[in-house]
Amino acid sequence: MILSIESSCDDSSIAITRIEDKKILFHQKISQELEHSRYGGVVPELAARLHAKALPKILSKTTPFFNDLKAVAVTTEPGLSVTLVEGLVMAKALSMSLNIPLISINHLKGHIYSLFLEKEATLPLGVLLVSGGHTQILSVKDYEEIEIIATTLDDSFGESFDKVSKMLGMGYPGGPEVEKSAKNGDATRFNFTVPLRDSPKVAFSYSGLKNQVRVAINELGDSITEKDKNDICASFQKTAIAHLIDKLKRVFKTEKFINFAVVGGASANMELRAKLEALTKKFKIEDFLTAPLEYCSDNAAMIGRCAVEAYKLGEFSPLDEVKINPRVNSF
Ligand code: KG4
Ligand code: ZN
Repeated sequence: MILSIESSCDDSSIAITRIEDKKILFHQKISQELEHSRYGGVVPELAARLHAKALPKILSKTTPFFNDLKAVAVTTEPGLSVTLVEGLVMAKALSMSLNIPLISINHLKGHIYSLFLEKEATLPLGVLLVSGGHTQILSVKDYEEIEIIATTLDDSFGESFDKVSKMLGMGYPGGPEVEKSAKNGDATRFNFTVPLRDSPKVAFSYSGLKNQVRVAINELGDSITEKDKNDICASFQKTAIAHLIDKLKRVFKTEKFINFAVVGGASANMELRAKLEALTKKFKIEDFLTAPLEYCSDNAAMIGRCAVEAYKLGEFSPLDEVKINPRVNSF
């Protein structure tokens, strides 16, 4: 079995995965959303302190598995430096005391493997990764060969939902709040422009759209109503998704993916899933894959699943060499 630890942002999570059949034998996650919501976003120092409290609490439930552990896996990149360290310190201590190797995992690769929990991976695959820190189109050939086809020039898709939610005085994380509000709104009321629509560039940009929303909110001033908020959320969400679809259309014309998937925290968005499903059908892509909803946001089960591949390849990290890479931009 592999014990995996995830602490790249504001979720403390540990899982136990059986190597042979990839079965999840244990998984727990303690989210810090409530603690960060009053600040409208994640406060790194607070997140680190909360991990220091939550991780040992979860770990204490996994001691019955200790004798069967073959490796300990931990997210080391990308993420917040002070929170990644919390997981790594715990993983190093476990590796040393149980005398088992350490596997260092890229958390974005973990998101890709959230598609293959408790099953074999079906690769190659085209992937749209949408999270709080990343917006990327990837060509995943196999575990070790992942090409970044497009990335964001500024804010990420999930981050733009968080910022819109904050501007509207709604909660954190903003994604689920904005999606909920958008359901009751009129998506045609605000005519936000789709970013980079006329540009041949295969890249994303969300900071301009965020500013369009800011201007609309300022114009409404103090008299802003619940209906206004719903209409803003619906119009914003429609435009944010249209931007992803625009660029994917360009990519699908040149990259012939057999299968395509969406992963990352923001892949829980139902409107996005529906639009992607329709697009992949139009381009005759055979299968459109998504992760189970409860495993879209950061979790240790996906890190454990990813680590099974690393374990089979013998990709272990010497304790004195392993380090965190908070802002790494490759796989
Ligand atoms: O992957 P994740 O848990 O953490 C990072 O790696 O960043 O993604 C979190 C992000 C947040 O920005 C959150 O607002 C966004 O995913 N998100 C959503 C939805 N649920 C979560 N964005 C849009 N719609 C959603 N339903
Ligand atoms: Zn993530």
